[in-house]
Amino acid sequence: MTQQKLRIGMFGYGCVGQGLHDVLNSSKGFKADIVKICVKDHNKKRRLPMSNFTFDKNEILNDPNINLIVELIDDADEAFNIVTTAMKAGKSVVSANKMMVANHFRELVRMQEEYNVSLLYEASAGASIPIIRNLEEYYDNELLYSLRGILNGTTNYILTRMHNEGITYSAALKEAQEKGFAESDPTLDVEGFDAKYKLCIITGHAYGLFLDPEDVFHYGISKISEFDIKYAKEKGFKIKLVPYVGKTNENTITSFVLPRFISSDKYLYNVDNEYNGVITEAAFADKQFFSGKGAGGHATGSAVLSDISANSYGYRYEYKKFRQGTVSKYTREHKLEIYLRYNDEKDRELFGFEEVSEYFSGRFYKYVIGVVNLERLYELRNQLSGLDVFIVNTGRKVEVK
Ligand code: HSE
Repeated sequence: MTQQKLRIGMFGYGCVGQGLHDVLNSSKGFKADIVKICVKDHNKKRRLPMSNFTFDKNEILNDPNINLIVELIDDADEAFNIVTTAMKAGKSVVSANKMMVANHFRELVRMQEEYNVSLLYEASAGASIPIIRNLEEYYDNELLYSLRGILNGTTNYILTRMHNEGITYSAALKEAQEKGFAESDPTLDVEGFDAKYKLCIITGHAYGLFLDPEDVFHYGISKISEFDIKYAKEKGFKIKLVPYVGKTNENTITSFVLPRFISSDKYLYNVDNEYNGVITEAAFADKQFFSGKGAGGHATGSAVLSDISANSYGYRYEYKKFRQGTVSKYTREHKLEIYLRYNDEKDRELFGFEEVSEYFSGRFYKYVIGVVNLERLYELRNQLSGLDVFIVNTGRKVEVK
């Protein structure tokens, strides 16, 4: 393939934008010209001369010399505006915006075909781990049973610091924010939204279903307490936030985001700090494990550069699993064994749990381990944040009778 000369119009110059700039400057083999960078804040000090910037998006979108748009802003609605305007104008796009892709997945896939342009977004899931292209190219004909992993650097950083150093949840979150891992609104990280958007993107490439994120159950780590960490430690586990997608039968999948106990013999046990990890289980390739930095300017910038380079050779996602159409159904009829730490007996009853174990660790508190249907968790999803409970998937297989 011949390489096309790229003239890039970039949106956003935050953590990832600057990271990409550094990565591009140190890349020996690849030269791309960033023609203009569109930013929002008129008062922010920039590390480049102001002649590189514009505040007017149309200056980039209407420039016929710009043939690639790199979108790295954190406002998903505005990102969607920019990306779709660019695509309609026949420009290809590279984006790192997981919320935008997940919320408009089907439409963005359709538009790539309609306007004959490419939209690449490797950085949107797992940052530096090239999982999307692997699912597209390596697993295109594989019978993929399941995929699970750690897809959010901020929560993994917080959980690592709490587990290893015993520092508090809020201190660890503050550190993750200072290091540039967290979203501008960290609720997206700690409540599991970010991991869910990434899971939905991965699901599109792994199984060809473009799920509405609203349909996928997610639960984060904001309710974790020192007791939960103590409990996990005493049993030899770490707690990680683990999104899962997998087959329940030939043409049906299920998916969810939940904290999970991880024992020391598991791949994910040593995936710490802002690192992400992905485990695939497939019929022929069997079990595979990918790991790499899942957040931060340079790690994410490296994935964006890889997309920019792929674009210059005319690479496009073909959505092979979608075209094959083998998987057509989504279900939440799926049983999970969970640990529920709670205070109020009424909260326990919501889960239909009867047996109670009590656990002493300095202070008295209560937990129970039981089997719950994913559909029930989904029904409770709006109540969960108001309850004094914490839920962890034990990860043990539930025998279906
Ligand atoms: N806030 C995200 C994370 C950034 O912590 O994983 C990378 O997508």
